[in-house]
Amino acid sequence: MYAAYFEQWLAERKQQDAFRQLQHPQGIDFCSNDYIGLAHDPVFQESITHWIAQHRLSHGSTGSRLLSGHHPFYDQVEQAIADFHQASSALIFASGYMANLALMSALPQRGDWVLYDQLIHASLRDGLRMSLAHHRSFPHNDLDTLEKLLQQIRAQHGQKRIWVVVESVYSMDGDQPNLIDLSRLCQHYAAALIVDEAHAVGVIGQKGEGLVQMQGLAQACLARIVTFGKALGAHGAAVLGEEWLKQYLLNAARPQIYSTALPPATLAAIYLAYQQIPAMQAQRAHVANLSALFRQQMSLPTSPITPIQAIRIPGNSHVKACGRHLQAAGFDVRPILHPTVPRGEERLRVVLHSFNSETEVMGLTQALHEWLRQHPATSI
Ligand SMILES: Cc1ncc(COP(=O)(O)O)c(C=O)c1O
Repeated sequence: MYAAYFEQWLAERKQQDAFRQLQHPQGIDFCSNDYIGLAHDPVFQESITHWIAQHRLSHGSTGSRLLSGHHPFYDQVEQAIADFHQASSALIFASGYMANLALMSALPQRGDWVLYDQLIHASLRDGLRMSLAHHRSFPHNDLDTLEKLLQQIRAQHGQKRIWVVVESVYSMDGDQPNLIDLSRLCQHYAAALIVDEAHAVGVIGQKGEGLVQMQGLAQACLARIVTFGKALGAHGAAVLGEEWLKQYLLNAARPQIYSTALPPATLAAIYLAYQQIPAMQAQRAHVANLSALFRQQMSLPTSPITPIQAIRIPGNSHVKACGRHLQAAGFDVRPILHPTVPRGEERLRVVLHSFNSETEVMGLTQALHEWLRQHPATSI
């Protein structure tokens, strides 16, 4: 009754070639989100260890932020993050998943409308499932449809609050929305814009400040989410916005209230990463060059130039086989399967890093072409 049901569920997953399994990283890293190499950099990692020891920072926070978990270092780190991102306030969460769950479940109220890009991250969607607001997706990056929905809601529901939710770099394709037009639309229809910058921070902008600031739109967003487990090489996330947003989330967001705070030692990694990223322009430029090289070698259009590159290989078994071929050739590239992506959209998610070399990228693209030659029916 218990084991049998779930064993059957797992067996069906295996039949569909959609069974997820843990696998240790092996081979040249074209898979991790450590875009500019901070998590891989032994010197930087050593500096964090040293800092933690010097400041006697604990690996245990002992409680929720609202109880014993609010170490004085939090104020300093949140201020530094807010300053860097030209925001009035920053509120740290234990992860990007928690930040998005908190924001989407607590902010839009009963009767409000949430319009979201169909490709936003699962954490934002999961938060919306907990929300009492109406929510509706619009086709990926389709601002015409978004505008029609905004018009309809304004015509039928008058002065309801409308929240528009997007990412600045989409996690599976590495592409970007037209944030300037999007923010104009939001302003025109008095909608509040929320942007998840998980894959932009550290990578986009002269100092790695993200797409929103690079386009001068910090004040056009009601909330931004920045995460620290990707280019910052650490762990955790923050919601950026005005002071009322921070106070509201501290009072209403259950993933913040009812969970143990990140420990002070983790804050050190975040703090030092923020000090490091402005100077890492050479790493950002190298990733951009590798991305252009990869696209050229795979005969893809010249953009988007981001560390995340998708090669569509429809079908779970096909994309898995291609992944195995690349792994056997020494490249750590992971297939992204249905149901993580819609059926037919299965792909290899190739991630380029500052520590990858041109030779490695050439080797990877050769191995990919080799597999594609052996499987001529596969479209990319
Ligand atoms: C766009 C986006 N937002 C949020 C998250 C969740 O962040 P975290 O890994 O810190 O939980 C991810 C994770 O991949 C993501 O891609």
